Amino acid sequence: MTDPNQLENAVLNLAINGRDAMPDGGTLTLTTRRVQVEEMRRFGQDELPPGDYIQVRVGDTGGGIAPEALGKVFELFFTTKPIGKGTGLGLSMIYGFAKQSRGAVEIESALGEGTQVSLFLPRYRGGLHIEAGVRDRAAPEGAGETVLLVEDDSSVRLLIGEVLRDLGYSCIEASDGQTALPVLTSNTRLDLMITDVGLPGMNGRQLADFARQHRPDLRILFVTGYAEQVSDGDDFLDPGMFLVTKPFNLDALAFKIREIFSSAR
Ligand SMILES: Nc1ncnc2c1ncn2[C@@H]1O[C@H](COP(=O)(O)OP(=O)(O)OP(=O)(O)O)[C@@H](O)[C@H]1O
Ligand SMILES: [Mg+2]
Repeated sequence: MTDPNQLENAVLNLAINGRDAMPDGGTLTLTTRRVQVEEMRRFGQDELPPGDYIQVRVGDTGGGIAPEALGKVFELFFTTKPIGKGTGLGLSMIYGFAKQSRGAVEIESALGEGTQVSLFLPRYRGGLHIEAGVRDRAAPEGAGETVLLVEDDSSVRLLIGEVLRDLGYSCIEASDGQTALPVLTSNTRLDLMITDVGLPGMNGRQLADFARQHRPDLRILFVTGYAEQVSDGDDFLDPGMFLVTKPFNLDALAFKIREIFSSAR
């Protein structure tokens, strides 16, 4: 009894954090178990009332989190990753999701040994009844439209790709402009191109110009970070071009994409 998309994004974020903490390899462990809380008990920053909970834990054998950073990791935009690698959104979104679900998040970490992040969610007792149409309301479904996604940051590409596939769109992924060119000149059906503006080599704007030479009607959604946004603003958008600014939440992106598709019809 929780938001399945948010749960999926939470686990994905935690797995990516674990991966990033183990540049030289290691073990990523995902565990689920039932936890019975007998009396008010503290989990991380929160207390949970008695009841049955499900613990979803993602553990890694990476570098761990320094004690002085441990208190800050849930803060919005707290990141130790270089620009373009991390926005510091993951854990704060997970914290919000846990609170909203009447659960909690707990982090255990030891420098040089690894990190375990646990999500505690109230256990649902009762029958499973899936209301028809609920999914359509929560997430607009695509109708087989194909999206070309050009993004050099593999974590971001993974997340956006997930969102697109969840929405029912086909997605072709490219890590830079050069890789995207043959897709643009091919006969493949393309309904939308989502491109990062700050790409290595050819930038997103140049890629868009190239794309429009071959596909004049192609809709284009630019993704920019705050730095680029200042210099470019909205002015450079031609008709059929749209912009989202990083950081954004995945629901906002989903609705932006739906808006683009519905405005064109
Ligand atoms: N498993 C982990 N091992 C070591 N450090 C971690 C781990 N998970 C989180 N951290 C630390 O907490 C910081 C914040 O994590 P969070 O997921 O909120 O943001 P991010 O991963 O930096 O960026 P984003 O999730 O937005 O891509 C990270 O930058 C990192 O310093
Ligand atoms: Mg993260």
